[in-house]
Amino acid sequence: MSHKIVVANWKMNPESPREARELFAPIKRLASKLTHTQIVVCPPAIFLPVLISARPTSNIFFGGQDAFTEVVGAYTGQVSPAMLKKSGAEYVLIGHSERRAAGDTDEIINHKVKAALRAGLQVIVCVGERERLPDGSHLKIIESQLLAALQGVPKKVFGRVLIAYEPVWAIGAQATGVDTPAGFLEQAIFIRKIISTLFGYKLAMAVPVLYGGSVTPENAEGFLREGNAGGLLVGRASLRPDHFSAIISTAEACSH
Ligand code: PGA
Repeated sequence: MSHKIVVANWKMNPESPREARELFAPIKRLASKLTHTQIVVCPPAIFLPVLISARPTSNIFFGGQDAFTEVVGAYTGQVSPAMLKKSGAEYVLIGHSERRAAGDTDEIINHKVKAALRAGLQVIVCVGERERLPDGSHLKIIESQLLAALQGVPKKVFGRVLIAYEPVWAIGAQATGVDTPAGFLEQAIFIRKIISTLFGYKLAMAVPVLYGGSVTPENAEGFLREGNAGGLLVGRASLRPDHFSAIISTAEACSH
């Protein structure tokens, strides 16, 4: 069985560098014992340096929650993917539903994906429908998000792409539900099918497809085992050290 990846998306939390260090401390303790699980912590970019300087083990990586479409230039307020990379981050989330809601179009996401790959980051491309439709027409949304995000991505760098399937209806405090392992598996197979049309069967089978949306210590195992998820993208539960630690331990058990 392959190694699992657990990604913490802290969103716009916490408020201070001190709290960020406190939130990170238990993750750091647990990570030193892991042999099969990789943790990616995505704090607000402003806290990356303080956490990276406390980086403890080779199992923890850092990521940005977003990065701009350009690598350099006069863009007030933006964080470039090169800045993330040169600050010690290895990953970046692109196309998170909250970024899409804030105005990131498919075209912007495509530019961000390509810029982040140019900067040498591993890119977690987030896709997911607003509504699960019984006739399967939500698959069209997933397909068009994927095709748009990956348009023009050279095959030789696709090895640095990960996909996070996050149905919007399952994300955040206003979630109306959570996917099932079987539901996730279906979408993940569909995602691999699309990717195989773009990059071939081998890369489609190799790309990690993560599940995100209301992941909890209780449902994590189902997604990782039955759903065969390559990992989990965790929002709220990553802000609860007890919950996040339990999810990491579950991932470690499922990776063996
Ligand atoms: P949630 O968020 O775990 O709080 O639903 C997931 C995400 O937005 O990535």
